Amino acid sequence: MTDKHQPPHGVKVQADVSKERKPKIVGFLCNWCSYAGADLCGVSRFQYPANIRLVRVMCSARVSPHLVLDLFEAGADGVLIGGCHLNDCHYMTGNFHTEKRVGLMKRLLREAGIEEARLRLEWISASEGEKFSKVVTEFTEEIRRLGTSRVLTDDMMKVRAASADNASETFRLKALIGKEFNLLNKGNAYGDKLDPEKLGRIIDTAVVDEFERALILELAGIRPMSVKQLGMVMDVPTDRILKHIVLLRQNSKIAMEHSEGFTPVYRTVATGDER
Ligand code: FES
Repeated sequence: MTDKHQPPHGVKVQADVSKERKPKIVGFLCNWCSYAGADLCGVSRFQYPANIRLVRVMCSARVSPHLVLDLFEAGADGVLIGGCHLNDCHYMTGNFHTEKRVGLMKRLLREAGIEEARLRLEWISASEGEKFSKVVTEFTEEIRRLGTSRVLTDDMMKVRAASADNASETFRLKALIGKEFNLLNKGNAYGDKLDPEKLGRIIDTAVVDEFERALILELAGIRPMSVKQLGMVMDVPTDRILKHIVLLRQNSKIAMEHSEGFTPVYRTVATGDER
């Protein structure tokens, strides 16, 4: 069994230069509730740590998985998403979608090896200035306990974070993210509502598949690798890797570079080179 986070050949692990680094946290707040709550917090002179950078969005549902995972890939230590309480969203069901999206983002973070606790979702109304201060203080403490993101110090973690980000952009996951709330509450095209457990299993499978495929593409983009090598670096059985390779080859995402004896070695097809 190999260490999941062991770097592939050609990927170096940098020295830890970040011992003294202060946690870097980004907060996305919806315009109508949480941002107003943060405003009230300031006006009321409640204190909160200065490590957080706030971004105002019209609704918490505007925060896409790509946006959040891109921040983690860039080395953010934590991301906070604040929205209106359920049933209070200015756009009716926006925050219900946010809840589902955050669930999917956490699943992808888990696959990447990034602690799920680094992503937090909170409902904060315009009148909850004190709650905003409490949430930011607690979250900053939690992030301090978790320490600096390993994405900054471990190149294999950066590869995994990039793979999680790329997986979130695949058609399959985007479609599931967009439809999860409606499939559970309104039903499919025939009006049949899906069982939450069954849909959860479908999403789990899709997340693992898409993450592993994205990771294969990242690794074989750094240097050509065989199925066995990919399996060892990723700690995934070779029959699963082979299944992914077959599909990626069908979609012209990966190609055989050369063979070593009878072993084919694959490389990722650069964007624009697909046939
Ligand atoms: S407007 Fe606040 S969560 Fe949608």
